[in-house]
Amino acid sequence: MCGIVGYVGKRRLVPVVLEGLKRLEYRGYDSAGIVYLEDGKLQKYRSEGKLQNLENILGEAFGAHSHIGLGHTRWATHGAPTTENAHPHSDCTGDLVVVHNGIIENYHSLRNELIAKGHRFASETDTEVLAHLIEEYLENDLRAAVTQALERVEGSYALGVLWTGLPDTLIAARNHSPLVLGIHEEEGGFLASDIPPLLPYTDQVIFLDDLELAVLRADGYSIYSLESGEEVKKEVETISWNSAMAEKGGYKHFMLKEIYEQPRAIIDTVSGRINPETGSIDLPEMNLSDKDLSQIDKIFLVACGTSWHAALVAKYWIERWAGIQVEVDIASEFRYRKLLINERVLTVSISQSGETADTLAGIRLAKKLGSKIVTICNVVGSTMTREAHGTIYTHAGPEIGVASTKAFTSQLAALFLLTLFLAEKRGTLESDERLLLGKELIRLATVIEEELPRLQADIQKLIESYYDSRDFLFVGRGLNFPIALEGALKLKEISYIHAEGYASGELKHGPIALIDKDMPILGLTPKDAVYQKSISNVEEIKARQGRLILIGTKGDTHLKTITEDVLYLPEVHEELNPILYTIPAQLLAYEIASRRGCDVDQPRNLAKSVTVE
Ligand code: AGP
Repeated sequence: MCGIVGYVGKRRLVPVVLEGLKRLEYRGYDSAGIVYLEDGKLQKYRSEGKLQNLENILGEAFGAHSHIGLGHTRWATHGAPTTENAHPHSDCTGDLVVVHNGIIENYHSLRNELIAKGHRFASETDTEVLAHLIEEYLENDLRAAVTQALERVEGSYALGVLWTGLPDTLIAARNHSPLVLGIHEEEGGFLASDIPPLLPYTDQVIFLDDLELAVLRADGYSIYSLESGEEVKKEVETISWNSAMAEKGGYKHFMLKEIYEQPRAIIDTVSGRINPETGSIDLPEMNLSDKDLSQIDKIFLVACGTSWHAALVAKYWIERWAGIQVEVDIASEFRYRKLLINERVLTVSISQSGETADTLAGIRLAKKLGSKIVTICNVVGSTMTREAHGTIYTHAGPEIGVASTKAFTSQLAALFLLTLFLAEKRGTLESDERLLLGKELIRLATVIEEELPRLQADIQKLIESYYDSRDFLFVGRGLNFPIALEGALKLKEISYIHAEGYASGELKHGPIALIDKDMPILGLTPKDAVYQKSISNVEEIKARQGRLILIGTKGDTHLKTITEDVLYLPEVHEELNPILYTIPAQLLAYEIASRRGCDVDQPRNLAKSVTVE
């Protein structure tokens, strides 16, 4: 998705904005631009492709005396990724510029209206309409003009505005697209689509809510409701992420760093939430009373992509340990089917970013139907956390790599806590069993930390005969079926190898036709309740010369009679195998993608946060 950075303060504008845009690259983009105000004039520069192309245009002296401006990285939605379509966009006078993330759904009619009034457009974008619309209403009050313009707009926006007539002020506004302010009494005022650009300068942030407008100056800010026009008081949040956390920390890629951060992320997500004496689970931010909980007789889990895989695992857990029926939906499908949802249903959305448009639309629909909403999310103050009734934050820290790793295993940890919490409230799990499972979850983090270096070394050797495969199958049964899906998604999204995840038992219903000596298959075969059935399935693959990689329990020598390529993992409580068995699947995808020279952190066509439908 697009990235926005704005600044007003004592520092030189250009370095602050360029560094900020670099920290947003993970959001995915295909062009970039910057604008700053110097000697009363707006200087605007834009380029296609990567940020480096924009930096190549900007010489050292550019903006030497400028301390206010905006930057943007664009992920094309309307109009090709060309320089003309890159933001910032200007009005007819060239004295007003905007940067925007989101989609103006009624831009066609607005554009025709403005053209009829004599406005001249220079791009194919929906965004440029905003510049001309503000111009149309602008006399001498920029905030009023932006407010009037946005009253005409349907759709989503995170917007930054700069006008030569108000040379010390940035205007920002948001609706269904994230925007956060950074404030600091020395450094000045910042605005950005996400937290990383703010981290080198301040940990004091304000998350704008939908239909809010901010007036930002070097010495302060004010925030207004776009609906009432009244000034609103917002909470200033302190971000615990330091700048280093958002850097690579010495790893080759953010993704590898984040794979290794998983033990920490799981511990941070669990800590303080399991009473070490009683095994009682404490999730106060869920904001659900015992009465709310007592009337729940069904749970819907709604998510996309990797987060949907976490939901699939949670279905097994919640139904087994809490005795509540669970339905799992892909959010983009959930929205369009007849939903039998009422106040007796709890809807849980799972989202690393908290901004995924499909998942947001899903919870809004469920809420309208009477359901309480809880979201499991990794970003403090993101839209989903502010629209849900309650939140269970994962504490994975910033996840920069587009392919989700630590956020996923943290989601699983949080979902396991939710399972234990529900079981406790419904009396379906004794405290000693809860305590045991809670302790096993904490022990798991240590197991992962110990195993990671050896696993990575084993996998680096293993992939030499697999990295140039054209296809890959992943198979798992029971709790490990969703992990087969996740392993396949990881591989395809960063290495571009076609990969599919299947329930092991499904192979004989068609996919086994794919098996031959050229087809690599990764089988998840821990010593668990369905072990014998899983072994039968991989024997069927061996009988057809499939190239098997097996991941199984340390000491299970039988696996070596099936294939040479075996990765062993320590025994943990079998309910927690989904978290543990995700790790080698992530490392396999990472090592193969690296070996293929792929852009591991920013895979082609992908965005970290899918804020468009
Ligand atoms: C994860 O590896 C993928 N990049 C993607 O499937 C992601 O899980 C999905 O877009 C959902 O994102 P969210 O968790 O931020 O809602």
